[in-house]
Amino acid sequence: MFILSNCYSPPKDYQEYYSNGWRVYKNHCQKCHGKKGEGWQQLYPPLKRLKNNKKLFAQIPCIVYYGIQKSAVEMPAMNYLTPSDIAYLMTYLAAHYLEKDTLITTAAIEERLQRCFKEKP
Ligand code: HEC
Repeated sequence: MFILSNCYSPPKDYQEYYSNGWRVYKNHCQKCHGKKGEGWQQLYPPLKRLKNNKKLFAQIPCIVYYGIQKSAVEMPAMNYLTPSDIAYLMTYLAAHYLEKDTLITTAAIEERLQRCFKEKP
């Protein structure tokens, strides 16, 4: 993971990752979790639990790629998303939920996806 401190201006790729990430969120997450992560009724949980929750945050690539079902409603696997799509998405989510202008690389996502089953959420 490539972590940037807030005092430096982010690399030029950052804006591209962020806006691609917003597009991934809009196309693949918003219909259930809402535009601002507010969730929907009892079915789809709000994403506010992610706020400053680094542990849950780190599980997102696995949750998205393999799906999750801890309650009555399942979140379907989205293994048609590429590691780059997930890197964009994570960059976007980091800005909102961790308040960090962090560019999360595709390589970091590939590495993370290899470890999903050792520590499945
Ligand atoms: C078809 C609806 C649907 C879509 C689309 C969807 N989710 Fe979910 N999501 C769910 C449901 C339902 C759960 C709760 C599943 C459970 O644990 O039983 C969930 C759970 C989660 C959780 C865990 C929340 C917690 O508090 O533990 C995260 C994080 C998450 N989703 C992120 C995403 C992201 C990011 C996307 C887009 C790539 C996405 N979801 C797309 C329905 C959806």
